[in-house]
Amino acid sequence: MNLITLSEFILQRQVEYPKAKGEFTRLMHHLGVAAKIVHKKVSKAGLVDILGSIGNINVQGEDQKKLDVFAHEEFTEMMLASEECCGIASEESEQIVCSPNPHTKEGGYVICMDPLDGSSNIDVNVSVGTIFSIYRRLSRRGENPALEDFLQPGDEQVAAGYIIYGSSTMLVYTTGKGVHGFTLDPSIGEFCLSNMDMKTPKKGKIYSTNQGNFAHYPEGIKEYIRYCQEDDPASKRPYTLRYIGSLVADFHRNMLKGGIYIYPETVSNPNGKLRLLYECNPIAFLSEQSGGKASTGYERVLSIKPLELHQRIPFIVGSAEMVDMLEKFIQEKSSIK
Ligand code: AHG
Ligand code: MN
Ligand code: MN
Repeated sequence: MNLITLSEFILQRQVEYPKAKGEFTRLMHHLGVAAKIVHKKVSKAGLVDILGSIGNINVQGEDQKKLDVFAHEEFTEMMLASEECCGIASEESEQIVCSPNPHTKEGGYVICMDPLDGSSNIDVNVSVGTIFSIYRRLSRRGENPALEDFLQPGDEQVAAGYIIYGSSTMLVYTTGKGVHGFTLDPSIGEFCLSNMDMKTPKKGKIYSTNQGNFAHYPEGIKEYIRYCQEDDPASKRPYTLRYIGSLVADFHRNMLKGGIYIYPETVSNPNGKLRLLYECNPIAFLSEQSGGKASTGYERVLSIKPLELHQRIPFIVGSAEMVDMLEKFIQEKSSIK
């Protein structure tokens, strides 16, 4: 049996980087361990109330913690403990998370992450995920990281990926040399290579958006959605609407099958809803590496110079020809104004 685990795969790849000293390999190893711990917790999510009520087990303990807080604590502790990551920007923390450990301050990487994406789906047993984005620090080693380490354009990402806690748990990542997927085999507790060099179709039949917000969408997006719904068998329309409300799960499906994900600016979210650093940039990197595209409607996501940690942007990602077409719809409408 030719079974390649995540750690084995990363080790094998290390030779492609002649100057590598094993720091990134160690970082990814720790990330894989944290992913397994969070996977365990997510798979027990429905039991939390039952366990809590029987003899008050863990009433004050971590079982009662919200899962996104648990995931935040688990990933930050594990990544800082690797001593390769000197700081973390997380959706669950206003400020950068660092460590007083002098060895951790020597770490050469910083991480931006959404510890639990799609968290409203947890209570109803629907897929959620974790998103991560890794940069080389710009500040001097030996000190806490600086804000500028985190505010690098997505093009500077060393690696990015996600863990999807779905019908099976998968870790999908890229270092800029293709997108690779690993499925967790719970019987041996290992992420095993299952999807080598994933590629997305140039065009698909799925569009994913919170169509309940339609009335608040910009005109170009409304036009495109009407286009998706039009009857034109020659171009395989109407397309299929699929929307889970977990970016990770919606993106994962669309990457495999071909499709487009749209979260534009709306009245309640005038800059869009999704966060540039730990949702859009990592997903955009994965998308481009699989042959897709990611855009705000006006510019390529990975070219944006971030201004703040929790910055939001309008986000369109998916099959290249679909993103190109939506950009045209948006830009034509805005030029008429
Ligand atoms: P999070 O759970 O990390 O806050 O992210 C939720 C995000 C994203 O995953 C999802 O696609 C989107 O919010 C859903 O938003 P709506 O409920 O507004 O559609
Ligand atoms: Mn999220
Ligand atoms: Mn989240």
